[in-house]
Amino acid sequence: MPASQAVFSAAALADCRHALVYGDGDGRFLARLLRSNPHISVDSVDCRAAMISLVERRMDRIGSSARRRLTLHHDNALSFSSYSFRYDLLVTHFFLDCFSTAELNVLFDRTVPQLTTGALFLVSEFATIEGGPMAAVSRPIIAVLYRVFGLLTKLGPRHLPDHSSVLDAHGFTLLEHKTWLGGLLVSELWQLQN
Ligand SMILES: C[S@@+](CC[C@H](N)C(=O)[O-])C[C@H]1O[C@@H](n2cnc3c(N)ncnc32)[C@H](O)[C@@H]1O
Repeated sequence: MPASQAVFSAAALADCRHALVYGDGDGRFLARLLRSNPHISVDSVDCRAAMISLVERRMDRIGSSARRRLTLHHDNALSFSSYSFRYDLLVTHFFLDCFSTAELNVLFDRTVPQLTTGALFLVSEFATIEGGPMAAVSRPIIAVLYRVFGLLTKLGPRHLPDHSSVLDAHGFTLLEHKTWLGGLLVSELWQLQN
């Protein structure tokens, strides 16, 4: 289970009403979000048709009320815009690592105007560990993961982007930071300040 699905309780997201979720994959987080927050509507963006199909199949099982609150967009997050809402919640799980730091700047240049002031951003990612016994193994583990993902998906990046500096530069403040597997996985809750 991706760390952030368990780390940040439904209570943290209970007041959110319009969520934008990038790259949710098979829809496990979407199902939990829609079930735990009966007032939220969600726009979910994924560039792979196979992932959209998996989400649709999962949604068939969660009930029509939740399904009605979800809109699936088969689109590239780097060019996606929805002018229907300004979102008060942005979510990405193991998505930012599909991009270089330069691409993340483009992504957030585009995304921030679609968010409300005070919007929350829930993110989980891999991280390289600085210091301690896990430090020596974290870089090779991440290098292998990138090699595998690169072969499977033809993704360009081979290094973790520096998402924290991109978020700082785009006006986000870190509210909470939790780690798993000795720091190899991180879950963070950020807030857009302005
Ligand atoms: C590594 S998977 C993570 C899936 C899921 N969030 C999880 O935690 O298991 C990355 C997801 O992002 C999607 N994705 C990658 N690049 C994208 C892009 N430019 N625009 C939209 N979706 C993208 C992929 O199709 C995939 O569903």
